[in-house]
Amino acid sequence: MSMAAIRWISGPVLRATVRGPFFLRECVRVGPRHLLGEVVRIDGDEITVQVYEDTTGLRPGTLIEGEGNPLAIRVGPALLGNIYDGLLRPLTGIDARVTAGARPAPAARLAFRPSRKAGATVRGGESLGEVSLPGRRTLACLVPPDLEGELVAIQEAGEYDDTQPVASVRTADGREVGVAMSHAWPVRVPRPVARRLPTREPLVTGQRILDALFPVALGGKAAIPGGFGTGKTVLLEALAKGCAADVIVYLGCGERGNEMAGVLEELPQLVDPRTERKLMERTVIIANTSNMPVAAREASIYSAITVAEYFRDQGLHVALMADSTSRWAEALREVSGRFGELPGEGGYPAYLSSRLAEFYERAALVETLSGSRGSVTVMGAISPPSGDFSEPVTSHTKRYVRAFWALDVKRAQARFYPAVHPLQSYSEDAAEFAPWWSENGNTQWLELRRRFLTLLDEQSRLERMAKIIGKDALPARQQLTLACADLVNEAFLRQNAFAPKDRVAGPAKQAAMMRITGRFIELSTQAVAAGVAPDRITRLACLRPLARMGEEIGDGEMEKFDAVASALETEFHDLIPAPEARDEAAAAG
Ligand SMILES: Nc1ncnc2c1ncn2[C@@H]1O[C@H](COP(=O)(O)OP(=O)(O)O)[C@@H](O)[C@H]1O
Ligand SMILES: [Mg+2]
Repeated sequence: MSMAAIRWISGPVLRATVRGPFFLRECVRVGPRHLLGEVVRIDGDEITVQVYEDTTGLRPGTLIEGEGNPLAIRVGPALLGNIYDGLLRPLTGIDARVTAGARPAPAARLAFRPSRKAGATVRGGESLGEVSLPGRRTLACLVPPDLEGELVAIQEAGEYDDTQPVASVRTADGREVGVAMSHAWPVRVPRPVARRLPTREPLVTGQRILDALFPVALGGKAAIPGGFGTGKTVLLEALAKGCAADVIVYLGCGERGNEMAGVLEELPQLVDPRTERKLMERTVIIANTSNMPVAAREASIYSAITVAEYFRDQGLHVALMADSTSRWAEALREVSGRFGELPGEGGYPAYLSSRLAEFYERAALVETLSGSRGSVTVMGAISPPSGDFSEPVTSHTKRYVRAFWALDVKRAQARFYPAVHPLQSYSEDAAEFAPWWSENGNTQWLELRRRFLTLLDEQSRLERMAKIIGKDALPARQQLTLACADLVNEAFLRQNAFAPKDRVAGPAKQAAMMRITGRFIELSTQAVAAGVAPDRITRLACLRPLARMGEEIGDGEMEKFDAVASALETEFHDLIPAPEARDEAAAAG
């Protein structure tokens, strides 16, 4: 075993003189409390180590032991339903602190039923049998991705500790390797896949403004930049509760404990409307709050994405929410500063950009090693200091994500939620999803999307003009544009995360609301063309039920939308003079 003696200490960073070889990224244990750390630099006979726990009390001369393997976490079915720190050690709740030298989660006792027989050849990523979890759910007992060989022994059906081998595999070079229901994987190494697949399918988020205007791909990546209080956390929580993923990995990274309270207290209570079971049963929460050691925060996003990849390898669709990547970048900055590295832009190390790229690159829709389809979709919040989107974390992230959900201070101040800015946000994949929406009951999706975006764009232009010349001085058609843009905002885009019927909107509800809003725009355009004054349209009685349909009509009440739609038709029918009446009026005039 390699050893080193501490020579210099600065917060979470140590320098030590080595006695025996270490390798870069090797996991180490420091001092009598066995604090967990990682070798981050090697210069001749000196190593630099970042320590993931509180280093108070360490002194020069204290010994560091190499573990002989890179920093790894144990992944397995038992992760579901639990809360961990950034290095995947169990936490019990919001007030839990990780104790120095904490050990990984204890073994979980799970039911295993073999599906393969001794003598078979097995490859990485294949299933050796079924693992049963509470709630009649089953997952696979996966062969670790880097293992291949002959199955020489496999246990019969029964309950086993998930860290204890249930099978034994002989590799080509004659080693016998035990396979348990969980296995270790180095966090900084992406788990291998058979191939990455192109994606023409959105991850339905349940948030109308995102699904309709700025959709994210299944296996895609989205960033949520927004100043303090603009609703990043509430939005990520809404996504965790409502997006159409099989597994949720929620990473609270460097935020204050009370800001994670919603996730830690509420999520475990929630019932998943799709399965009628506790949402938490398909969720893993990783919390590295601001009071926990800063270096562990740096590692936590790798732990989180490794957990997400593990469930992807089970052939599942996984959504990873990270709140916030800025706090992660700050950890990177702090630790790098202590190494004495030359700071770059904003004080961040020069490799900030490549680290962000590596992280987002791990989002994908894939064919797994065993031939099934799985995905990891990443949604990361960014908290730019004073809401300035030109700062390094936002601008670098922008290069790697395909969907950009910019939260706007003005919209948030007006309590217009989700405060996604319709002109600063974008989705580069949107056009790809039209066929998917057509198959899912929204044949007009692309056309209506374009229509709404155009209106919102015109709105901002016209509002500027209206400020100068007054709204009433605008021509009728432009007044109508403003009225329609208001409707798109109020009736369709606004969505209250705390309204029981509206916190999540399924595809059918979204399609109905989009269609009705589109129909209003169509009818009112016809009415104005036929000479109806715009202020008569803005006084229509149907506008109120339209603006309230999101909150008042739930996913299971689609027939109520028909009533809203037919009220709309009737009112416009009464408003627009019949063609003959119009002709007569024209003749009389
Ligand atoms: N979608 C939403 N629906 C209703 N209220 C919201 C929504 N998003 C944000 N809010 C309100 O704004 C407050 C601040 O949001 P939060 O997510 O904590 O901001 P951030 O994480 O960006 O600092 C919340 O406490 C809530 O009152
Ligand atoms: Mg927040």
